[in-house]
Amino acid sequence: MTKILMVCLGNICRSPLAEGILKSKVFTSKVFVDSAGTGAYHVGNLPDPRSIDVAKQNGLDITDQKARKFSVKDYDEFDFIYVMDSSNYRNVIKLARNEQDKAKVKMILNEVFPGEDLDVPDPYYGGEFGFKNVYNMLDEACDKIVEIIK
Ligand code: 4NP
Repeated sequence: MTKILMVCLGNICRSPLAEGILKSKVFTSKVFVDSAGTGAYHVGNLPDPRSIDVAKQNGLDITDQKARKFSVKDYDEFDFIYVMDSSNYRNVIKLARNEQDKAKVKMILNEVFPGEDLDVPDPYYGGEFGFKNVYNMLDEACDKIVEIIK
């Protein structure tokens, strides 16, 4: 079983979409996908209604998700930890205990644009286009992840 964790700040906008999109592209009996946030502001909450909407427009239901905070134990649980932006990267790397932990952490858009360290823009304060844009970026990145774990 390959285990993949998607991480953003609030675990209500970007990483729930990444979780839902990747789950839709894999056999969930073979690949375990989860998501978490580096911040605790929204712990226990459903994804943002705008993420729920854009997922629904693309045929995905992400309303089974509840926000949780990233914890150091996630380094033991997961094989790959995909972060959405450079701020998430710093916050997750800060908790790494060794080089093996650090090697698990990757910027998700580097799967599409290798080495460029591009951010998935935080859509929280933006309009609906932000969420569609985020959806499309994550969809493309998840296609690459599926290739990698095959
Ligand atoms: P996310 O978006 O990290 O993609 O879930 C955010 C959600 C909430 C906040 C910031 C970003 N916030 O500041 O509450």
